[in-house]
Amino acid sequence: MKEIKIESTVFVYDGLESLSQDVVHLMNKAKEAREKAYAPYSNFKVGAALLLDNDEIITGSNQENASYPSGLCAERTAIYYAGAQYPNSKVLRMAIIAGSENKLTEQPVPPCGACRQAIAEYEIKQESPIEIYFMGLKGKVVKSNSLANLLPLIFDKSVL
Ligand code: THU
Repeated sequence: MKEIKIESTVFVYDGLESLSQDVVHLMNKAKEAREKAYAPYSNFKVGAALLLDNDEIITGSNQENASYPSGLCAERTAIYYAGAQYPNSKVLRMAIIAGSENKLTEQPVPPCGACRQAIAEYEIKQESPIEIYFMGLKGKVVKSNSLANLLPLIFDKSVL
C-alpha cells in the first residue's frame, strides 16, 4: 500500500477591492448575469462570466426547471455557450458570484462538481489553464490558477 497526498493551492482575497480592475470588471459582469438567473425553486442565484482570448466576455446564469435535474448551473450555461459560439477561442478566466435570495451569502461559493468536470474538459481541450475566481454576494474572493486545482483525480480522456 502506498499513501499519496494530494495538495492544492488557492488564494483567498479579503474582497474585490484587493483584485485588479480586469478581475473586478469580469466579476461585475457575473453579477449582472446573476440578476438574470431563473431560480424559482432554490432561490439561489448564480452568475458566471468568462473572458476569452478574443476579448469577448460570455456570461451565464443558472436556469432551473420544474423537473429539477433538467436545470443547468450558471458555469455550464456560460462555458457551453462559449464552446458552441467560439470553438476556437480559449477561456482565460472565469468569475463566479452566487448567493441566496433569502439570506446574505458571505462565504465564497465554489463551482459544483459537475461544473468542475465541464470546465476541466475545456481546460484540457485548450491546453492552457483557466483562472477561476469565486465569491458569495460580498466578502472574500477565492482564486484558483487552474481548474485542475479544484478537481484532483480527474476523469479525463486519458482513461478512455
Ligand atoms: N448552481 C450553480 O449555478 N452553480 C453551481 O456551481 C452550484 C449550483 C445552481 C444550481 C441551482 O439552480 C442552484 O444553484 C441551487 O443549487
